[in-house]
Amino acid sequence: MRTAVVTGASSGFGAAVVRRLAAQGRPVVALARRAERLEALSEEAGPDSRILPLAVDIRDGEAVAKALGTLPEEFADVAVLVNNAGLSRGFGPLQDADPQHWQDMVDTNVMGQLHCIRAALPSLIASGCGHIVNIGSIAALYPYSGGNVYGATKAFTHQLSLSLRTDLEGTGVRVSCIAPGMARTEFALVRFEGDQGRADALYDGVEPLAAEDIAEAVQWCVAQPPRVNVNMIEIMPTSQPFGLGFRTAATTARSTD
Ligand SMILES: NC(=O)c1ccc[n+]([C@@H]2O[C@H](COP(=O)([O-])OP(=O)(O)OC[C@H]3O[C@@H](n4cnc5c(N)ncnc54)[C@H](OP(=O)(O)O)[C@@H]3O)[C@@H](O)[C@H]2O)c1
Repeated sequence: MRTAVVTGASSGFGAAVVRRLAAQGRPVVALARRAERLEALSEEAGPDSRILPLAVDIRDGEAVAKALGTLPEEFADVAVLVNNAGLSRGFGPLQDADPQHWQDMVDTNVMGQLHCIRAALPSLIASGCGHIVNIGSIAALYPYSGGNVYGATKAFTHQLSLSLRTDLEGTGVRVSCIAPGMARTEFALVRFEGDQGRADALYDGVEPLAAEDIAEAVQWCVAQPPRVNVNMIEIMPTSQPFGLGFRTAATTARSTD
């Protein structure tokens, strides 16, 4: 099996995807900033798994290019990129927002994803059957109060996924986009800058998705025969209402994802 690069592998969806793909015997490059988390993931998977921890900040395009351009031989044949690393910052009306939060989201969700695609594309194209799975969000599709810039960065991911399909025509490289709804990961904790109470309140009255639900969708996309391109999968918790952020108390305590 050829190598999969999974970004945002130190937590949430990314860690669950790494576990699944590695369990199938696939070599997996697990990329994120927190090296100790990646090492633990590799150790947990056991000696039969081939997981390469790669501590890189995806906002640094040169570092991403260098890291993915100098992979050890047994991981160098990259055929799958799961472009998952991302974050949200802040949760209020745009007019009250901190521009640094915008910068963090644009640098990570937009530029970071682009840096990873650029670095992986030569190998994906050379493989003749490459596959990019971008993680978008339902926030790209359905607005909620407080989701403004985060949703816009994810709309970028959705549109880029479609545009890439046209650019890559004839290369055999497939592009999929998965749009999750509310899932229990560290996402809310990051959004609320470590405020655990606020992050927990997000899930009041809703049974959120588990990271494994998204990992299963990623695995399914990748497992399709080469003639099949899954353009987009949208997944929400059964109990998640649309427009959650528009509820009264919700605007200060919750977001839809
Ligand atoms: N959870 C949800 O409700 C939800 C819903 C829809 C979409 N999403 C999207 O799903 C993706 C994964 O989020 P999650 O829910 O699994 O959240 P999470 O548990 O917070 O995981 C985010 C991952 O991204 C990595 N990351 C963030 N900034 C990075 C950077 N500059 N360089 C490298 N890695 C970076 C983090 O690792 P380090 O901090 O170690 O770098 C972490 O591994 C994100 O794109 C998010 O927008 C989440």
